[in-house]
Amino acid sequence: MADIESLKQALAVSPDNIPLLLMLGNAHMDEFQLGEAREAFDRVLAVEPSNAEAKTRIARLLDLGGKSSEAILRIEQVCTEAPEFAPAWILRATFSLNEGEAKLAREYYDRAVSIDAKYQDPELLKRIEQGGGTKRPPSGRIQSAGDQAGIYLDADDFGDEEDSFDGFETADDDDELELEFASKPNSNFSKVGGMEAVKEDIRMKILYPMQNPEMFKAYGKSAGGGVLLYGPPGCGKTMISRATAGEIDAQFISVGLHQILDMFIGKSEEKLHEIFELARKKAPSVLFFDEVDALAADRKDMRTSAGRTLINQFLSEMDGTEAHNDGVLVLGATNAPWHLDSAFLRPGRFDRLIFVPPPDEPARAEIIRIMAEGKPITGLDAAGLARKLKDFSGADIKAVFDQAIEASLTEAMKAGKIVPVTPKQLAKGAKQVKPSTRKWFESAKNYALYANQSGFYDDVLSYLGLSK
Ligand SMILES: Nc1ncnc2c1ncn2[C@@H]1O[C@H](COP(=O)(O)OP(=O)(O)OP(=O)(O)O)[C@@H](O)[C@H]1O
Ligand SMILES: [Mg+2]
Repeated sequence: MADIESLKQALAVSPDNIPLLLMLGNAHMDEFQLGEAREAFDRVLAVEPSNAEAKTRIARLLDLGGKSSEAILRIEQVCTEAPEFAPAWILRATFSLNEGEAKLAREYYDRAVSIDAKYQDPELLKRIEQGGGTKRPPSGRIQSAGDQAGIYLDADDFGDEEDSFDGFETADDDDELELEFASKPNSNFSKVGGMEAVKEDIRMKILYPMQNPEMFKAYGKSAGGGVLLYGPPGCGKTMISRATAGEIDAQFISVGLHQILDMFIGKSEEKLHEIFELARKKAPSVLFFDEVDALAADRKDMRTSAGRTLINQFLSEMDGTEAHNDGVLVLGATNAPWHLDSAFLRPGRFDRLIFVPPPDEPARAEIIRIMAEGKPITGLDAAGLARKLKDFSGADIKAVFDQAIEASLTEAMKAGKIVPVTPKQLAKGAKQVKPSTRKWFESAKNYALYANQSGFYDDVLSYLGLSK
């Protein structure tokens, strides 16, 4: 088995390598280093938010740490998001069994096995058939679930499990919320390559007003409010938002709206309110809503009356009629601005729009330089590579690097020492990755040409060279 030290070394070269991170997390779990394991799985999710394996392992860790209700919520979420991922159903079966729900446990178990017979587990099946005989042991000792069933751990190993138990149900638990959503970013504009126009826009529309509120007030303008970033995927909307908070040394509170919708079923408005309150308490803060189009009225889950209530809640929180949003900058990001209801774009809400285009050639060169920093790479010709990467997004460029690093990592593993990435490997990566931004412009172009109310898409048109 891969040992922890060599995994860490490999990760130093390839920090976002998902298979390596998963291996590291699992290795820590085998050693019952639960905190470290969690960190590794969180890193996976930072790279790939939908990774079902990492989410399943986190659910398992939560259960091991005594947070069984949270663990159950999480595993249910994985089963919904990735219904074909058998290990999640196995874990869910184990959880149900621990809750004394043998019938449900059987259903989940059968589901896992029907997806992949390899997950048959005669031991677990026997326990299920006995009707969940092994209930949770008395407090103080926690039974681990899943493939480690039967191992008992001292509750003391997990620190404050008592008071953080059921964190999701204690509605006013700010700390929990803070841990989940807030951070002080260590990023700033210098970590974001190119995007000069976007940076300037953010400086004018956001940073100067926040830094000089008096001056802006004198002109009858208020600092704060909402800015919507839109553009093709992978071009740095999330990244620049985080960097914006870093620039003004503000707290960064990042919320994926799907997260709220999925995780707090039936409690979404309440959670949304709490998150806004947290941002107000932490001001100056940047409250970042990723995927705001999740709130679009034409989405299936938003057409219900519960969906409407959530949209209304969001709008009224933004209006600041309920509370003062001074010093709270609301940033939203979306790839599909055309789905947003025009109510979102009224004054006081997302009343400033910033188009985040794909990086141009100099920007790509800068992104390449930023990505190469601190990695073993020889003979890098950033400008030359940038020329080859027309229409590539930042995320696409990252994929090129990942490919090249992967290749040199394989060699490094064989050689037992660091083998630097070569220009040839990068060029090969450039051929393997397909640029992803063209497709976005195909849809955007139609909206820009035929639904360009109040000049919403002027920037897109001028990018495409179609402006009148
Ligand atoms: N300007 C940039 N400078 C450096 N890296 C960048 C830049 N733009 C994108 N990247 C890289 O691409 C990745 C994806 O960027 P990001 O998540 O910010 O895109 P996004 O616009 O939010 O995409 P999506 O619409 O899919 O959410 C980043 O994690 C980063 O590695
Ligand atoms: Mg994003």
